[in-house]
Formats: sequence, structure tokens, C-alpha cells
Amino acid sequence: MSLTPIGVPRHKITVASLQEKKLQHEPITCLTAYDYSTARLLDEAGMDMILVGDSLAQTMLGHENTLSLTVDEMLHHVKAVRRGTRDALLIADMPYGSFHVSAEDAVRNATRFVKQGGAEMVKVEGGEKRADLIRHIIDAEIPVAGHIGLTPQSVNRMSGYKVQGKTLTDIEQLMRDATALDRAGAACIFLEGIPREVAEMITAEVAAPTIGIGAGPGCDGQVLVFHDILNLTFGPPAKFVRRYGDAAAEITHAVQAYRVDVLSRQYPADNESYHLSPETKQALEILSERKRTMRSRKQITAVE
Ligand code: KIV
Repeated sequence: MSLTPIGVPRHKITVASLQEKKLQHEPITCLTAYDYSTARLLDEAGMDMILVGDSLAQTMLGHENTLSLTVDEMLHHVKAVRRGTRDALLIADMPYGSFHVSAEDAVRNATRFVKQGGAEMVKVEGGEKRADLIRHIIDAEIPVAGHIGLTPQSVNRMSGYKVQGKTLTDIEQLMRDATALDRAGAACIFLEGIPREVAEMITAEVAAPTIGIGAGPGCDGQVLVFHDILNLTFGPPAKFVRRYGDAAAEITHAVQAYRVDVLSRQYPADNESYHLSPETKQALEILSERKRTMRSRKQITAVE
């Protein structure tokens, strides 16, 4: 497999290219991003897909879980990521509550992510029971990513974040979920927190590319949370997270060095300062000198 070198222009990733990658057994790469600068870096580094995940509630906004995130908050971040994304396919996560009330409401919210946010796909958590809803969104010309297994928006129903699909009954349900989403026309299916064997079975069964997170190596692609791979999450990582950098250490080091420089007046240096032209500087010195002379004359007059 040839890798496109970083920074070299590549083709725009579309729904069709994801399908093509599955057929060619070419892994699909995806990371989350929530702002302009991160999106630019990910896009220029060659990510196939950028997901504005509702994990932003935790990573960016400091909430305990994803449940309180609103459509307006998500939209704000999708717009920023749009401005930094060129070739990658941009996916907006549908927040909790944005597709649970009615299909009409779901289509309205999905449409906002496309029209106002510039998303090219929306992601909806849930399996079989979301199939009809997904059809409605696709009918509105919006590609949909499914998301099954450990679905964080179900944290209360699941009584915590637990690996799913460990019993035969659960595996059968997961297979039904995956095939229902596939038949509904999902453009890809995210598989989160399930045993690798189950993810492999699903991947072999469905036409849609599967994108795994904590689902083993047999998926058609992989996604991770940007903050997880860079140690920006302030806690022990989940088993499936591989750290590719330590941004927390880098940031702390840089911030401390800046602080020390400011306290010791090492920053800013002369070459980090703006300067007057020699003529203006000279004129300013003459003016200041005149003012000083006038002031001392006034003081002498006052004493006399
Ligand atoms: O919100 C998110 O970040 C996600 C993925 C990690 C799949 O849904």
C-alpha cells in the first residue's frame, strides 16, 4: 500500500471512496477534531475522515459525559472544523436528544449540520431501533454513519461504560443492529467497545465500512479521540488507546518556560519588539528633551 506523503495534495474523500477502500482492503483512518487548527493538522496529515464527536462535551467542555451537549454547541465546533478541513470527509455527531424526539426533528437537526456547519455526514448512535430514522435522514440526502456497541449516549441505560457483545444473546443483537443499519443504507458503521471477534464478524457481514474504536484490528478502519492519543485527557487511558505523543508534557513545559522568562524579564527580547524609524526616534528625543526643559523652567519660576 502506498502512503500519500504528508502535505501532498490528495483526492477529496467521499462516501464512494470509503466504499472503495473497503473493497480494496485499504484501512480507513479517522480521528476526532473539535477546532480549526486541529482540523487543519489532521487534514494535512492525511486523515480520511474527521469526526466532530460529541466527546467534545468531555474533551473540550469539561463535562462528565456527553449527554448535556446541545445542537448549537456542536454546530459551533463543526463550523470551526469545516474551516480547517479540505480533503477529509467531515462527520458531525448528532448530540443526545437531537434525534430521539421525532424523525422530523432529527432531519431538521441533521440538515443544520450540513447547511450551517458544512458537514458531509452525520453520525447517529444506536442500532436496529434507529434504522427507520436513518432512512429518513438519508432521504434528506444526508449520508449517515451508524454507531453501535458501547454507545456513550446510553451510559445511564448501560450503567456505565462497559464493553458490549460479550454473551451470545448480545452478539446476536449486535449482528441484528449492524445488518439493520447496513440495510437502512448507513455509509459506515462505527463499532465501539466490542470484542474483536464480534467486530470481525460484523465487518465480514455488512457492505458498509466498519470503523472501530476498542473493537480490534479486523475493522475496515479505526478511529480514536484526538485528546487520547496525545495524553490530553487527565486520567488513565482506556485499554484500546495508544498514545502517540505527550502534548500535556509539551504544553506544561512550554508554559512554564514562558512564565520563567516573563518573571525574569527575559521575554520579550529586543528582536521580539517593534522599533521606531531612526528619524522618528530622533524627533521624539528632541521633543522629550524640549518638554523636560520647559518643565524645569516652570519649576524654577514657581520657586522664585
Ligand atoms: O464522540 C466521539 O468521539 C465518538 C467516537 C470516538 C466514535 O463518537
